[in-house]
Amino acid sequence: PSVFQCAIDGPAASGKSSCAAAVARTLGFAYLDSGALFRCVTLKHLRRGTESTDWHDFTAATDLRLTALPPLTGTTETGPVRPRVFMDGEDVTAAIRTPAVNSHVSAIAAIPDVRTALLAKKRALGGGIDGTLPVPGGYAGVVMDGRDIGSTVFPHAQLKVYLTAAARVRAERRVREAGGDLDLIEQELVKRDALDMARAVSPLRKADDAVELDTSAMAQDEVVATIVGWVRDRM
Ligand code: C5P
Repeated sequence: PSVFQCAIDGPAASGKSSCAAAVARTLGFAYLDSGALFRCVTLKHLRRGTESTDWHDFTAATDLRLTALPPLTGTTETGPVRPRVFMDGEDVTAAIRTPAVNSHVSAIAAIPDVRTALLAKKRALGGGIDGTLPVPGGYAGVVMDGRDIGSTVFPHAQLKVYLTAAARVRAERRVREAGGDLDLIEQELVKRDALDMARAVSPLRKADDAVELDTSAMAQDEVVATIVGWVRDRM
């Protein structure tokens, strides 16, 4: 029995995490936020200062835990639900979403030794490279969102989605969720996407066999229902 792997990739603030979480909760799968792992390593590095680092060991030695989300039982819930994230035993759920982490994470995520160490962690969380290993928690399927999940982490995923939306729309959604200046936030998103697409090791790109979904004019419920339908078609 193999684990169903659903990969959701796309640019910053395209709605990946809230949709991936809702898809997972609807299906009773585990939701795994790979961006949180890069954010944790970035936070730890920022706190330590700038001394030189053996990036592979630094990353591999960091204890990272993503808590499970309860299954969705009805349609009455509103607002995004984020799993709590623990780094070396500390709850860093809020600390990994600060402007400082936002502006440094793409540079850290471009370091090859960081990517290698986190690739191993991502696969360990999600059933191995092809879903033949058991998943922590015993889930029948996983939904992992990120930048390289379909292209690199789970190349055999049964479903790969590439979620996009116009930069302005993404910035507007981010402002609605967390506040801030619209123009500045749009600039920050576009800059992060450019860095993520330009890096040498597993850049952000649509996998050849991914389905692209432009959510600019879609409500989140529709996006979730669409992806859930695609998973069920492939189960
Ligand atoms: O998804 P989120 O915006 O939290 O990701 C933060 C950053 O982590 C991204 O901008 C990217 O640099 C990096 N990342 C990555 N590969 C992933 C997930 C995230 O490089 N699979």
